Amino acid sequence: MSKVVKQYNSSAKFLHWTSALLIVALFLLGLWMVDLTYYNQWYKIAPYWHKSIGLCLLALTLFRLIWKIITTAPPIEGKKWEIQSAKLAHAAIYLILFCIFISGYMISTADGRPIELFNWFLVPGFGSFFDNQEDIAGVIHFYLAVTLITLSTVHALAALKHHFINKDNTLNKMLRFK
Ligand code: HEM
Ligand code: HEM
Repeated sequence: MSKVVKQYNSSAKFLHWTSALLIVALFLLGLWMVDLTYYNQWYKIAPYWHKSIGLCLLALTLFRLIWKIITTAPPIEGKKWEIQSAKLAHAAIYLILFCIFISGYMISTADGRPIELFNWFLVPGFGSFFDNQEDIAGVIHFYLAVTLITLSTVHALAALKHHFINKDNTLNKMLRFK
């Protein structure tokens, strides 16, 4: 029988808040950088940062999922429908994130170029798998990013509702550092 815990462990908390911060930063950076003109000093550097941080988030998310599997999380509180919706929302967040990583990769490598992960190494590109890949993947990437941010906002509001209205342990178990 698996043991019952009251708090997310420190690593799970660290992974949650770091990921949340990176996702919001990547979203804002993405929206800003696509409107830069060629003569702007950030024209090349902003996508370089967006892609490098995006790949770091991918590594972090893979580690987070492994960590989730091998450690015990506290039970989700609330009514049956709330517990089921929370589980569904969490799964959807992970699923959308991976679709964002894939579409981001497909935009960046459509012309066969690799992705530079800061100055550490190159992630190889395999070119286009279908016509117009860069544009189609770009549109998908954008709509998935908007969906992820919308879902995360609802998720954050639900956590605040549990904390301030239901006054249960939902937010505390992701917040308190002991
Ligand atoms: C492996 C990770 C990622 C890669 C390689 C990547 C790559 C890219 C690229 C190349 C663009 C430019 C698209 C264009 O010029 O039309 C872009 C735009 C964008 N990215 Fe990412 N991205 C990644 C992760 C993320 C994440 C996690 C988010 C956050 C939710 C995000 C949000 C955005 C947004 C909002 C745009 C602007 C889209 C637009 O307005 O058309 N990206 N990304
Ligand atoms: C981009 C922003 C965010 C994303 C993508 C996100 C994603 C997630 C995911 C996937 C989980 C499931 C647990 C896990 O697998 O680690 C989770 C749990 C949680 N998140 Fe977030 N989160 C975000 C922002 C926030 C914010 C701003 C708050 C607080 C206002 C918050 C509060 C919580 C709480 C309290 C839990 C635990 C829920 C429970 O077990 O009952 N999250 N989050």
